[in-house]
Amino acid sequence: MYEKIKETAAFLKERMHTKPETAIILGSGLGKLVDDINIEKEIPYSEIPHMPVSTVEGHAGKLLFGKLGGKDIMAMEGRFHYYEGYSMKEVTFPIRVMYELGIKNLIVSNAAGGMNPAFKVGDLMVIEDHINSFPENPLRGKNFPTGPRFPSMHEAYDKNFIRIVEEAANRLGIKIQKGVYVGTAGPTFETPAEYRMFKGWGGDAVGMSTVPEVIVAVHCGIKVFGMSVITDLGGFEVPMKVSHEEVQEAANNAQPKMTALMKELIKQI
Ligand code: HPA
Repeated sequence: MYEKIKETAAFLKERMHTKPETAIILGSGLGKLVDDINIEKEIPYSEIPHMPVSTVEGHAGKLLFGKLGGKDIMAMEGRFHYYEGYSMKEVTFPIRVMYELGIKNLIVSNAAGGMNPAFKVGDLMVIEDHINSFPENPLRGKNFPTGPRFPSMHEAYDKNFIRIVEEAANRLGIKIQKGVYVGTAGPTFETPAEYRMFKGWGGDAVGMSTVPEVIVAVHCGIKVFGMSVITDLGGFEVPMKVSHEEVQEAANNAQPKMTALMKELIKQI
């Protein structure tokens, strides 16, 4: 695995004209954020050695290099989900490569189902913490020398990044929620009973990504900021039916607000 990571990083280094310190992962339906990036270079995943290829609708599968908020950044348009059949090592492979490329900050976005009764469809939720409900931890197996065998997850989401985004949201008049993201394997959306269970655990939103990438980033010493777009609501008295289309539509509508906040964060880090 380590050889592959090195080879992929070497391939990218040869093609990179900048040395970005911040990487962004664009989640389901959140690909439009790229419209705000001054794209200088894009490389389809299919051209990158050892990179898994994204299969899900709405995930283009490209690595982008350019500027956002006046800084050099790299962005993943499309991520790898466990439910697509990838192993945890494949899901988190790009994070390992990012580390090799010198990435210091990771901004992750996703679409998620809201369980907190105060949430509405289209809300943005700053991820303060997560609950890992995937059947496998991405760090299972021989420990990578990037971090300890038993890494702390006490402050997986950087407190300073959260403060910067809260202040920016106040200034720009953008409403944000904060909460705990529950990561599940998918691909099924939750049953009403599962929503209730996750809510009982202390979750505010639930989705099928992010947690594996964040665990590996933290293990590499990369600072993380995470944001969910609440695309549907579950776990209340009235059972809600969720469709992939609804998720995409709600994510689309929330994009300008999310982009504005990410720009502000990048400006200040
Ligand atoms: N559950 C899981 N994943 C999701 C949801 C949800 O309700 N909405 C968007 N992604």
